Amino acid sequence: MAAMQQISDIGALREQVRGWRIAGERIVFVPTMGNLHRGHLRLVEKARDHGQRIVVSIFVNPMQFNDKDDFNAYPDTLAQDADKLTEVGVDVLFTPSVAVIYPDGYQHNSQVVVPGLSDILCGEHRPGHFIGVTTVVAKLFNIVLPDVALFGEKDFQQLMIIRRMVGELCFPIDIVGVATERESDGLAMSSRNGYLSAVERQQAPLLYRELEQAKSRLLLGSERIEVVEAEAMEVLQKGGFRPEYFTVRSRKDLSKAEGNAQDLVILAAAWLGKARLIDNICLNSG
Ligand code: PAJ
Repeated sequence: MAAMQQISDIGALREQVRGWRIAGERIVFVPTMGNLHRGHLRLVEKARDHGQRIVVSIFVNPMQFNDKDDFNAYPDTLAQDADKLTEVGVDVLFTPSVAVIYPDGYQHNSQVVVPGLSDILCGEHRPGHFIGVTTVVAKLFNIVLPDVALFGEKDFQQLMIIRRMVGELCFPIDIVGVATERESDGLAMSSRNGYLSAVERQQAPLLYRELEQAKSRLLLGSERIEVVEAEAMEVLQKGGFRPEYFTVRSRKDLSKAEGNAQDLVILAAAWLGKARLIDNICLNSG
């Protein structure tokens, strides 16, 4: 296998991808913000099932951080990330600078907006966040021109929004969702887990345990959704979290669940110390 190339320039990236396309190869893309963990690497491994050439981007996108301190504190571990990607087998690591992606500053960039879906749940608690995500993902798609792109189900709302954007704006790209990679105690892997103290790290698996608990209660069919949601919020609070939401939604459009005859997803976001953790679990009807 040829060595991984690292490219930071849009023109050079385009030229490389054009060569592959002419050779009839399928291009698979995994966008990330770096600080790579096993969850990201799982996406890259899955990418192999979908084509011959894998492009991974690492770009910490200022436009999607509603909190400047959060952006400034975001860990930069490029050398280690590059080693991990080389080991998994990636063709190109695309690492554009902020000036390359937003030459006139992101405040002046054209925006891609997926209305509705972007304004609820995490969008309500992080205003402008999803406009930053859809804008940068659209730009990256137009730069890389992949056939397929992979996203994690851990960021369930993000995945739905990207699917909606790709459908409605007719991007000729297949979007593939990948199951959440977890620590052995159930905690979803996340770059933000690094912000947890040792004590908080012990408390953190409660979030997923509550999702599992709520799922089993709802599958029994006799419990009211609002009661299950409210009790989970309380358990999280008692367990040291500052929950933002714990809510049962339709998997079709994230609207509030009406009974459990639909395909549902339970989504939760909660602060634990300095870390904002999100997670979700799916419930199938029937
Ligand atoms: P980032 O948080 O770096 O995540 C990159 C991709 O990895 C996303 O698709 C995310 O859902 C996936 N991922 C993260 N943790 C995961 C886990 N435990 N299991 C499986 N997949 C996981 O999400 C972003 O970056 C950005 O918003 C981005 C899409 C790159 C746009 O800037």
